[in-house]
Amino acid sequence: MNNKLKVAAFFSGCGGLDLGFIKAGYEIVWANDFDKYAVQTYNLNFEHKAVCCDINQVDYRDIPNHDVLIGGFPCQPFSMMGLEKGFEDKRGTLFFKIVDIISYKKQIKQQPKIVVLENVRTLMTHNKGETFKVIKQELESLGYKVFAKMLNSANYGVPQTRNRVFIVCFLNNEIDYTFPKERKLEKYLQDILEQNVSEKYFLSERIKKTILSNGSGGYVAKSETDLQIARPLTATMAKMHRACQDNYVTQNGKLRRLTPRECARLQGFPESFKYEVSDCQAYKQFGNAVTVNVSYAIAKSILKYIEADNL
Ligand SMILES: C[S@@+](CC[C@H](N)C(=O)[O-])C[C@H]1O[C@@H](n2cnc3c(N)ncnc32)[C@H](O)[C@@H]1O
Repeated sequence: MNNKLKVAAFFSGCGGLDLGFIKAGYEIVWANDFDKYAVQTYNLNFEHKAVCCDINQVDYRDIPNHDVLIGGFPCQPFSMMGLEKGFEDKRGTLFFKIVDIISYKKQIKQQPKIVVLENVRTLMTHNKGETFKVIKQELESLGYKVFAKMLNSANYGVPQTRNRVFIVCFLNNEIDYTFPKERKLEKYLQDILEQNVSEKYFLSERIKKTILSNGSGGYVAKSETDLQIARPLTATMAKMHRACQDNYVTQNGKLRRLTPRECARLQGFPESFKYEVSDCQAYKQFGNAVTVNVSYAIAKSILKYIEADNL
């Protein structure tokens, strides 16, 4: 009998968050994203196939029974969640889709015992903390005990500064969860670089000048290349930002951007992880992903509570 814990994944992208759970021994029974290129990559790599559609179109009856619900919900403008706005406004945000799905599952007595959500670091402080307060209250009103912490990917084995908020919720209110321990970084950006990369990743003399200029106007920042720990990858990397925001490395005396494969490595994806999309889509998918190492560390850390809980 298959006694793996069953996971339903929302906003699954190319599957960074999901991969951490699979590596830790869980089984994905449902995944969904509306980006066809992200779903293409996801379905190329995972046994369970993601459903490609807008979450607003998902019929909740199609979502199978699961023990754990996971999702890196998009960092939508949460401003509409400000308490001064009406309840109806709040319900329009994608976080509330998660709430609706859990409520439906609760009604039919299939409520997931654990929920793991991920978001940008500013979620905690947005709107003077009111946004996070609303999120916490909503999850608590569904019966969960809620734990939240900002984790940096660089503290979980990849040379990338990436601070993200993780929200871990348990239906069992007795649980006193502690987030996974940090570990010492053993490799740097220079250690994960590809050799012999295509000329297209190198900067022409013309663009180099713009890339290397410091931020100006409202955004003053120092241009720096060849960092040991990469700056956070972004979904818009394909556009090439200046060196005060993006990552550039020197190879054979010439400056270049990172390749999609290097971005995959910086997000903890294994070499066996395949993608057959354009560079632009690959940058977007890896830039959007949850770092696999962090996801794995959380998934693993939860297991011991689940075992004690006899789930
Ligand atoms: C931050 S990314 C998630 C990354 C993913 N968790 C990972 O680790 O690779 C957010 C995802 O939400 C998806 N998304 C945004 N709005 C959506 C909607 N209305 N329905 C379904 N997916 C949506 C985007 O396409 C994007 O892939």
